[in-house]
This record gives sequence, C-alpha cells and structure tokens, in this order.
Amino acid sequence: MKIIFIGDIVGSVGRNAVKAVMPRLKQAHPNAVFIANGENAAAGKGINASIARELYDMGIQSLTMGNHTWDKKEIFDFIDQDERMVRPANFPAGTPGRGHTVIKIKDQEILIINLQGRTFLPPIDCPFRKVDEILENAKKKYKYIFVDFHAEATSEKIAMGWHLDGRVSAVVGTHTHVQTNDNRVLPQGTAYVTDVGMVGPRDGVLGVERTAVLQKFKTQLPVRFVTDEGKWHFHAVVIELNDQTGLAKGIQLIRYEEDQVFLD
Ligand SMILES: [Fe+2]
Ligand SMILES: [Fe+2]
Repeated sequence: MKIIFIGDIVGSVGRNAVKAVMPRLKQAHPNAVFIANGENAAAGKGINASIARELYDMGIQSLTMGNHTWDKKEIFDFIDQDERMVRPANFPAGTPGRGHTVIKIKDQEILIINLQGRTFLPPIDCPFRKVDEILENAKKKYKYIFVDFHAEATSEKIAMGWHLDGRVSAVVGTHTHVQTNDNRVLPQGTAYVTDVGMVGPRDGVLGVERTAVLQKFKTQLPVRFVTDEGKWHFHAVVIELNDQTGLAKGIQLIRYEEDQVFLD
C-alpha cells in the first residue's frame, strides 16, 4: 500500500498545481492512494462542493480539513453527505461532518482520521484522548490507519507522533504550510513528519499576498489579507506501508516548484 498525502491546497493557484502535478505522480505511483488537505482550497478559506468535486475529479480520494473548515458557509450543505471528507474529530460533539472515515480502494480499506491541535489554536476537545477513543473502536478492524494532525506547535505534533507510534500507519502534520525535514519511520513503525507543507502561491507568506502581511507586521494596523497569485510550489509525502502489518516502510518528501524542470 502506498499513500500520497498532499499538504494544504491554497486557492486556485494550489488547485492548478495539483492539476499540473497529479498526472506525473499517478504515472510514477500507479497504485497510490491520494489524500489531500483541503481547508484552504477555496481562495485560502475553506472549501465548497464544486471545489471538492474538482479535487476528487483530479484523483484525490479523500480530503482532510482543519481550522478553516467552516470558512465557507456552503460546506454545511454537503459535509454530512460527503463521506470522503473529514474535519477534525475533536471538534465539539454534535458538529456537522465526520472526524474519521473509511475509504475503500479496490479491496483495501483505509481509516482516515483528522485531528486538530490546541496549542495556539482554539481550545477544542483533547486530540490525544479523541484519537484513543477512535482507535479503541477501530484498531482491530483496520490495518491501514492514516492520521492528519492539523496543528501549529511542532511539539504537539511530535508528541502525537509518539502517542500513536505503532498504533497507526502514519501521522502527518499540516497547518503551518512549511514542509519540515524530519520525515522518518518511528521505532514502532509509524511514518511521521511534522508538516507536509502547502500547495499554492510560493512568493507570498504561507499563501497570503505578502505586501499586506508585511504591512501588518510593520504597522500592527488592521489589513485585509488576500490569497496570493503567481507561481506555485507543491509539497507532499509518499508513504510506503507493509501489506502484512499496515505499518510504514518509509516516508519520502516531495517538493516541486512551478518552473522546475522535471528531470526524472
Ligand atoms: Fe492551512
Ligand atoms: Fe490550518
């Protein structure tokens, strides 16, 4: 089993990047399962039904979310029906949508869990206890378990990696939009990376147009942030899993720039 997870897709530039890179990834990894974080897919803020469909049509098989889940109010119209979309499982009980889902690829099932950190983010339910609760019911049923931990603090993400080591196939971090170089398989067999990085405008600040961000830092006055245009960069990870145990054999980083010549 091979999983390719694509980091936070930001706006139309990010979606164009996915469109440009997917054929190449599918060719290089014909049997991979594709999962992506879609919390910024609609102009940097949230997602709507047509953008989710656009990403599914490109070959993304499941979408995870994060703190921007509710930014587009149209999501309330479809998130309960969309079985391929997961929002953080530790949102308050009764929140629309689902915090984990199972996708079936050929005859294999993968449990996909989305969690959100609480350090420098809203004080929602405990992600550590929530994932224990999910695994308590699911661990014996699913060999392949993928976790997107959407969190700000590197410490909280590393802690989650250790919390889940040997209990899930992979824990990947999202939200900071900057890819970290600490991809590894933890001692008990869980693939881990602190942040996968983003897919979208590369010359802004985390996908936001940079002059407004600079103005904010320099003046501390209110400014309107808009998603940047221009060239993209693309960040993802390829995770290879052992088909007997469901644990990881390896995790590699992927990084492409729009004007990079593909040599391989
Ligand atoms: Fe994001
Ligand atoms: Fe986020």
